[in-house]
Parts: sequence; structure tokens; C-alpha cells
Amino acid sequence: KNIVILISGRGSNMQAIVEAGLPHRIAAVISNRADAGGLDYAQARGIPTAVVSHREHPTREAFDAVLAAEIDRHQPDLVVLAGFMRILTPGFVEHFAGRLINIHPSLLPSYTGLHTHQRAIDDGVKLHGCTVHFVTADLDHGPIIAQGAVPVLRDDTPDTLAARILKVEHRIYPQAVAWLCGGQMWLNESGKVTSNGPE
Ligand code: GRF
Repeated sequence: KNIVILISGRGSNMQAIVEAGLPHRIAAVISNRADAGGLDYAQARGIPTAVVSHREHPTREAFDAVLAAEIDRHQPDLVVLAGFMRILTPGFVEHFAGRLINIHPSLLPSYTGLHTHQRAIDDGVKLHGCTVHFVTADLDHGPIIAQGAVPVLRDDTPDTLAARILKVEHRIYPQAVAWLCGGQMWLNESGKVTSNGPE
């Protein structure tokens, strides 16, 4: 299978997926920012990279059209958002329906949006985590593929909590990619995640 990964920053989830050694091809790593640290890693591994800068396009629609065309060149079976910090248009999401996934740093449906770790600490929740989900036009609300939970400890700061969760992200994201590319899990016609495995 062909996998295209979209990043905006350091790309540690992208790295975890690459290093999982899955029997699939990382066809490209694409960033909306030329200074994304993860691009250096991908280049060093010989993975094709591209930058599609949102700043060079006047509207979200224009940016998404160019981005979709760049992704399509690689004929992806799966498009993986890994710290990709742009909200995508409904047209883009529709184009990649059932092939577009994201990882979000909370146990969805709690804490959609930004600053999830600070908000979890402020609320005093005892469990927090991360979620891999299909992307739909409704931000952070797509069908859930996998989740990982961690305890919130008394002295946690957003940074210590984020670090604990990031380790879990690096485990569940490659696992989810493996399930989807391996055909053990998919999005059915009614928009529900289905599996033929133990999960
Ligand atoms: C992760 O915490 C992910 O959950 C969120 O953005 C962060 C990306 O980190 N969507 P990285 O670029 O994969 O290191």
C-alpha cells in the first residue's frame, strides 16, 4: 500500500510510522511549512518530500486543491495527518474519504481543539490520552480507530503530560496504520469503523 504523511512540525509520529517497518511504502512526506523539522528526517531516509505552503495560496480552497493534487501524484491508499496544523476543507476531506486519518492528543470526544493537556489538567481528570480517527468535515469528530490512555499525575504540567501521551501516540499510530493498510480495519458505507480482527 502507498502511504502519504502530512506534517507541520517535528514529525515524531511520522518517524514512528516510518520506523515501524510496515510492509508498505511511505510514498511521500508533505509539509505546509518549509521549516518543519520532520522534513530533514524524511529526506535523510530517502523518502520523497514536498512543501505546499498555505501562505502562497489566497484561500483554504486554493491551498487544499494544490495540496490534494500533490498528494494524488503518489496514489495513496492512506493519507496520514501527523501534527498537520491546518483545518481542511469539506471538499478535501470528501476527496480522501475513508483514506484520511489523524491523531489527536486527547481521549475524544473529550477535548477537541487546541491546548488539550492544559484543559485536562485544569479539569482535574485522572485519565487522558490520544485518539486515532478518520477525518470528517466535523473537526476532531470523525470515527474512532484507536485510543491510548495514561494517568494524569498530581504534579503534571502540560509538558510532562504531553510527553507521557506522545509515547503512546508513537505506539498506537503505527498500529492503526498497520490495521488499515492490512485490511483488518476500514470505514464502512455507513461511516462506522469495522474490523475483522480482535479489536
Ligand atoms: C502530536 O501531539 C499529535 O497528537 C498532535 O500534534 C502533535 C504532533 O507531534 N496532532 P509530531 O509532529 O508528530 O512530533
